[in-house]
Amino acid sequence: MAAEVIVINHPLVQHKLTLMRQKQTHTQDFRRLLKEIAMLLAYEVTRDLPLKYETIQTPLTEMEAPVLAADKSMVIVSIMRAGQGLLDGMLELIPNAKVGHIGLYREPITLTAVEYYLKLPIDVEQRDMLIVDPMLATGNSAIAAVDRLKESNPLSIKFVCLLAAPEGLKHFHEQHPEVPVYTASIDHYLDKHGYIIPGLGDAGDRLYGTK
Ligand code: URA
Repeated sequence: MAAEVIVINHPLVQHKLTLMRQKQTHTQDFRRLLKEIAMLLAYEVTRDLPLKYETIQTPLTEMEAPVLAADKSMVIVSIMRAGQGLLDGMLELIPNAKVGHIGLYREPITLTAVEYYLKLPIDVEQRDMLIVDPMLATGNSAIAAVDRLKESNPLSIKFVCLLAAPEGLKHFHEQHPEVPVYTASIDHYLDKHGYIIPGLGDAGDRLYGTK
């Protein structure tokens, strides 16, 4: 199956991303910008949702009008903790989505992903799933999250991030070729500490003002 990477190069997304990358951008602005970009990403990621037609009454007449066809709303799974920044914006646009959380941290020496938390809605197998994490760096967390979340049998999975490293995309699609990745940018490379270059630094620290 062809591995799909969709780069969302909408001018508003690109402009806001540049503001986020700048080191002088403070936590409060960084958080707001991520939320705004998440709303724009959600718009693109949901572009192919099927519609069905229902009869409604406008004040003037009856009509056949389009509504989302899925029986159940989608589930958005945030990879903690930085995924929360994307989740908040997506929920603004898709307020009826169910939410799951998976906790993964990067072991600092090996950069492997270690799971410490998982909480999902009960009926995931009847829902489409979006997995969100701002940074697809080595790909280890994304792979571990998809490995684990596939066990819950969602109808479909899409992975949504803000920045991706070419090495991480390759690694991810070697393991999960059928999962499309939506991103605002494919950056240049990963440094030896696993940071995306040019990137924006540590997304979690910049989101929450930690160090
Ligand atoms: N995680 C981050 O927060 N930033 C990077 O550059 C890579 C992984």
